Amino acid sequence: MGPEGREFKSRRSEILTMNQNIEKILIHEQTILARLDQLGEQITSDYKGKELTIVAILNGSLIFMADLLRRIRIPLKVDCWSVSSYHGIKSSGKINFRQQTIADVDNRHVLLLDDILDSGLTLKTIKEKLLQETKAIDVKTCVLLNKIVERAANVEADYKGFDIGNEFVVGYGLDYNEHYRNLPYIGVYKE
Ligand code: IMP
Ligand code: MG
Repeated sequence: MGPEGREFKSRRSEILTMNQNIEKILIHEQTILARLDQLGEQITSDYKGKELTIVAILNGSLIFMADLLRRIRIPLKVDCWSVSSYHGIKSSGKINFRQQTIADVDNRHVLLLDDILDSGLTLKTIKEKLLQETKAIDVKTCVLLNKIVERAANVEADYKGFDIGNEFVVGYGLDYNEHYRNLPYIGVYKE
């Protein structure tokens, strides 16, 4: 076996090891990217001629943000907020902000990006913080995944990539205790 074959074999076994807790692939990479083409078009036309700041919630929306941003074809600014609420597969019910500063969004339209809308606590807390502490013109929300569940917080996203059932998913930025974010697809996690 030549060096290329060896490299392929070891990469393949790494991916298999990494995937042993993935029950099934829920959304393939190509399906995600095709949907982002549509979302990018929609956001481009909705915000044409407006001053837009995208606020991405890290770490979960890291990859979603990178792929979506490159599909929005209007001038915009980007800010990233680092928050956490989940431990394992359960929400702690509390939002921890890892930083305090907010970019200047006064007189600008804000579009909040998050990986997934579940209980709604994260998006609601951050949306209210922006509305209370800044003079943003408006704050809308965009999530890659919309979990169909009863929400603790009364909030729905303005832009949604995909509706999913009440399953714990990882990949494409979403984690289980910080693992699996680098899977290129969305998979269902099994313990
Ligand atoms: P919410 O505050 O309950 O709406 O949850 C939002 C946050 O919880 C997201 O930003 C994710 O980081 C995390 N989360 C919720 N559901 C899942 C899941 O199925 N997989 C991975 N993370 C999740
Ligand atoms: Mg998370």
